[in-house]
Amino acid sequence: MFAGVLACQYFFLAPRHNSSPDSPSAKPWRGYDVYAKGRVWSVPKTGHYAKYIEDTFISGYRSIEGIHDRLDALDAAGLIHHPKRGVWPGLKRYAASDRGQPPQNLILEPTGFTNYNKGRGSEYCGYPTQKPLAIYERMIAASCPPDGIVLDPFCGCATTPIAAERLGRQWVGMDIWDKAHETVLDRLRKEQLAVPESELGDHETPQEGRHLITFGDVTYSRTPPERTDNNEVAAPSFRLKMQRPIEPWQKITHKQIVSVLLKAQETTEGVICAGCGRVLEKEFMELDHITPKSDRGENHIINRILLCRPFNGRKRDNLTMRGLVRENKKKDVNWMRNEQLAKIAQSSAEAYAYRVRDEFRTPEIQALIQGLR
Ligand SMILES: C[S@@+](CC[C@H](N)C(=O)[O-])C[C@H]1O[C@@H](n2cnc3c(N)ncnc32)[C@H](O)[C@@H]1O
Ligand SMILES: [Zn+2]
Repeated sequence: MFAGVLACQYFFLAPRHNSSPDSPSAKPWRGYDVYAKGRVWSVPKTGHYAKYIEDTFISGYRSIEGIHDRLDALDAAGLIHHPKRGVWPGLKRYAASDRGQPPQNLILEPTGFTNYNKGRGSEYCGYPTQKPLAIYERMIAASCPPDGIVLDPFCGCATTPIAAERLGRQWVGMDIWDKAHETVLDRLRKEQLAVPESELGDHETPQEGRHLITFGDVTYSRTPPERTDNNEVAAPSFRLKMQRPIEPWQKITHKQIVSVLLKAQETTEGVICAGCGRVLEKEFMELDHITPKSDRGENHIINRILLCRPFNGRKRDNLTMRGLVRENKKKDVNWMRNEQLAKIAQSSAEAYAYRVRDEFRTPEIQALIQGLR
């Protein structure tokens, strides 16, 4: 009865956020302890895919209340993929279910992201991350007006330029790969969208509805662009790892950073937590990173802040300060004490940190970091 294409899996898990470990969606199923890994189950119950499941596979699906009962039913119907090595099971999604639906953030393209004919004469050109033209044409047709310009700054083997050209859009492609330019031209030629000027004969006519460009129409530049603000070359080199000298102010110790920030965040009553705005004795404060180290946050003072223990305890190292403050304000958490004070502490810490950087050698700053002030 059903002859759809399994396009891809959709991992039916949501970030755990504030879910309680007691909620059904946090409980393990078939040995997958999602909560322990910071997730909860999110199994469709409403929406078009739930309806599709009900119409196509499991009658009465949308009336199944329990999340684990829904998982059992999906599994019994063969709709759950259990990867051999993967950590998470996945819900199978059928491209056919998408017919007539506006695309969501997951596009179920029948060709998939790697499935195309690799035979001779096919669009496949061997680039390791090549994508099918069909997907890009769909995206361009949907989001670029006919007189628009498509920019792909990482265009690889030129799928975007080719798709844009096929749809009559102007395009700009860029890539650090030095064969990208040739590949654009090769593929234009192969698609009969362009011919070298030297080969352009009287007999060559454009395919119907297409503008035949010559290679002369394709502008190619290897010169890095100039910045418009200071007229310097935007990318003088493509060196990826840059060695930066470590400045003396970047080398001050943990204890010295704490000493400066205590001064920055203090009031007559105590020290303000820059996360929740509580004023506590300095013993309750912990030194933390503003941008987490996992996001390449640096250790030096400009990226450091004092937080109270409870706030810092909640801030796992993958959460940014801003994320936690946002979470703090939600109704069911709501333990933000004084946002205004927290902000004052943040900007004061920032101001002190920049003074340490900019006035490092002055006696005042030296006294401050030594805790003499
Ligand atoms: C995922 S591939 C793009 C594949 C492309 N969508 C296609 O279908 O062919 C990413 C591309 O980014 C390029 N790239 C990586 N770093 C770059 C940089 N700093 N500047 C320009 N291109 C870069 C790589 O050479 C690679 O071709
Ligand atoms: Zn706090």
